[in-house]
Amino acid sequence: MAHAPAAPRDVVEDLGPVQLARFVPEDVDDVHAFASDPVVCEHTTWGPNTPDDTRAFVEQACRPEPGTVLLAIVRDGHVIGSASVWTTSRSDRCGEMGYVLHRDHWGRGYATLVARALLRIGFDDLGLARVAATCAPANTASVRVLEKAGLQHEGHLRGDRLVRGARRDSLVLARLATDG
Ligand SMILES: CC(C)(COP(=O)(O)OP(=O)(O)OC[C@H]1O[C@@H](n2cnc3c(N)ncnc32)[C@H](O)[C@@H]1OP(=O)(O)O)[C@@H](O)C(=O)NCCC(=O)NCCS
Repeated sequence: MAHAPAAPRDVVEDLGPVQLARFVPEDVDDVHAFASDPVVCEHTTWGPNTPDDTRAFVEQACRPEPGTVLLAIVRDGHVIGSASVWTTSRSDRCGEMGYVLHRDHWGRGYATLVARALLRIGFDDLGLARVAATCAPANTASVRVLEKAGLQHEGHLRGDRLVRGARRDSLVLARLATDG
């Protein structure tokens, strides 16, 4: 794939093969490459994105809300995914996390590195006591990533999401700051 030169960016965590970095407005094309892919979006609650959806996402990603960490997953200077951990209840110190990767980069352990980093950021930087993740029961790769990152299965919610017109179940996994 032909790429424009990489934009200068602010790396937050260097995970070795990939970095977590702040988004910049120039990331729209890289983000659209995965966010518009129907295969990538098979189990996500959003997408496949239109160009307007992606522009709105990157605009928001460049200015995340307080209590939200929303970062680009970067390899060789280009965005190959996004990762987020956000506060759902300030008073309970609870949050959630999520991630997505361009499918050219699946199966190399990157999401597991990212999930572990999101937990560290959630506990250490956001001060959360609990970080949860929800995913479609059919999303076996994501369930495996969450298990490898040390989240525990907590439940199976029946028909809790309406995704592209179809009602869908969710698995809930979570990790506590006090988990060994
Ligand atoms: C889910 C996703 C992030 C995984 O990224 P990844 O970098 O390939 O994940 P990793 O390589 O760290 O680990 C994937 C694990 O799932 C396993 N896996 C992959 N596909 C699988 C399948 N169809 N069935 C069972 N296990 C599968 C891999 O073998 C690996 O486990 P292992 O290390 O024990 O062998 C990526 O597929 C993606 O972006 N999907 C689309 C977006 C999405 O679903 N996001 C999560 C929403 S909850």
